[in-house]
Amino acid sequence: FVVDWDMEQAEKNGYDHFMLKEIHEQPKALQNTMAGRVNSENGSIVFDELQWTKDKVNGWNKVSIVACGTAYHAGLIGKSVIEELTRTPVDVEVASEFRYRRPIVDEKTLVIVVSQSGETADTLAALRESQKLGAQVLAITNVVGSSIAREANQVILTNAGPEIAVASTKAYTTQILSFYLIGIYMAQLKEQITAEYRNELVQSLQQTPDQITEILEHTKGLRWYAESIKDAKSVFFLGRGIDHAVSLEGSLKLKEISYIHSEAYAAGELKHGTLALIEEGTPIVALNTQEEVYEKMLGNIQEVKARGAQVLGVALEGNMKIWQYVDETCYIPVTHALLTPILSVVPLQLISYYTALELGNDVDKPRNLAKSVTVE
Ligand code: AGP
Repeated sequence: FVVDWDMEQAEKNGYDHFMLKEIHEQPKALQNTMAGRVNSENGSIVFDELQWTKDKVNGWNKVSIVACGTAYHAGLIGKSVIEELTRTPVDVEVASEFRYRRPIVDEKTLVIVVSQSGETADTLAALRESQKLGAQVLAITNVVGSSIAREANQVILTNAGPEIAVASTKAYTTQILSFYLIGIYMAQLKEQITAEYRNELVQSLQQTPDQITEILEHTKGLRWYAESIKDAKSVFFLGRGIDHAVSLEGSLKLKEISYIHSEAYAAGELKHGTLALIEEGTPIVALNTQEEVYEKMLGNIQEVKARGAQVLGVALEGNMKIWQYVDETCYIPVTHALLTPILSVVPLQLISYYTALELGNDVDKPRNLAKSVTVE
């Protein structure tokens, strides 16, 4: 027993918890996901494991992404990226729903299943169902030799290294990075992206590991924020577009390990119901990283502020205007608009970690949850 404890301590490598260790491993993990997949001479994407051709990619009239939990949230980012870069329609569905309806999937559909463990029962069942319907299945997974890796037609390994904490962190960022690479690769094969635009995206992707390191060097404000929400009844995460997809992940992380009720809402939907829940002191995390909807989002922040909400704004460095609208601001380094999720999720992971810590919860093994859900 004592030996096990010692081994666990050794594996944590000086960190108090696996979750914190894994959050800090993200820069390295992202580098490993990119390794060998970017041609350093011309910035093009190389996926030797896929052997896709222009004809093959043009043969898909639709992409269906199927996954659970955090991997599903990564799929939502994948949808934005693939649709934006290739104009191919993408739907994203939780695997437990997909398997019990008659999904519109056939040989012209590329099905992408996403699973850190590669063992999630519902995701595996969705993979099998899709193959039965004639689709090719691409798996994005972290575990070589897992059931999903073995049964998929093609596999992209995220190469994030073992993820022990139940709350997924580095698996998410490496899954979304995989989607960026896939999106660019598809667009490159379809000749729908200029070399200039591709280089801009690839160079920005290559900066993300250092940018995460930068975020991880300034966590004091996030600790303070966690302390301020630990007794909250509910915490809301708001965003628009890609920021909304990230806010879903931030909300899941918080409820999973802090046990505080939390919801993520598309900010434009507030008036259609959720606004009724906002009262004096309600904590809100408002993501506002997208230039195109920046002003609209400020409008939504005003709506909740007027009802007494306490707002933490998450915005790009240098963005001073948001200060007048929120109570606190968390800045993330500037990157391409499509890539902000890789960075903006990191403060959200840390907020949930520090909140769970404040509450004395078992951060790595939250109640009622298992790392890998191998039963229905
Ligand atoms: C994430 O923090 C969760 N523990 C959970 O949602 C997880 O992402 C989900 O169970 C899917 O697991 P998988 O990626 O191993 O398939």
